[in-house]
Amino acid sequence: MTIDKLLDALTTCGWYVWDDFLSSSSIAEIKAAIPEDALQAARIGHQSSLHNNKNVRGDLTVWLDPDMGEAIEHYLMKMDAVRLAMNAALYMGLKEFETHFCRYPKGAFYQKHNDNPRAQSRRKITTVLYLNEDWQAGDGGELVVYDQQDNPLITLEPVAGRMVFFLSEAFPHEVLPTQTTRESIAGWFLN
Ligand code: OGA
Ligand code: MN
Repeated sequence: MTIDKLLDALTTCGWYVWDDFLSSSSIAEIKAAIPEDALQAARIGHQSSLHNNKNVRGDLTVWLDPDMGEAIEHYLMKMDAVRLAMNAALYMGLKEFETHFCRYPKGAFYQKHNDNPRAQSRRKITTVLYLNEDWQAGDGGELVVYDQQDNPLITLEPVAGRMVFFLSEAFPHEVLPTQTTRESIAGWFLN
């Protein structure tokens, strides 16, 4: 089962790509449930110095919650099942999942960063689900994940239904400039 492949990969290499995590119809329903008027320029930095900086990241985001409709609720329930499986098999003690939708307009990118530098936050596992049906080679917007020595490890096209998992503190990553609107849902399992 795919869940076993995920659990295996997390203990051996620390990352995993799960294609077709959600069906095209689920993806379409999630997109339809995103509240357009709540989208805001993504912010970077710490509580005391939160700011927008399009030179670092150019996406618009909105935090997701189950009140946004059945499609979002279904995604959150599926992520909770994954959380419980990771806790049972790997004793990870993950307590919560936080997640936001991201839209990168044409030309936007997200510079190389680490989601939990020096392991100082509660973010243990990063997930990114892609929502782009009809993605073409040349559209840009690939996710590049680096190893601890900063060598590129994987380059992923943001194709609909694909979900990537990696240990938040271990893998720097970046979103290359996109040539067309690019949508994803980033999430973090917290301990
Ligand atoms: C993030 C992030 C990657 C992506 O939101 O922290 O790295 O592919 N997103 O959207
Ligand atoms: Mn990130």
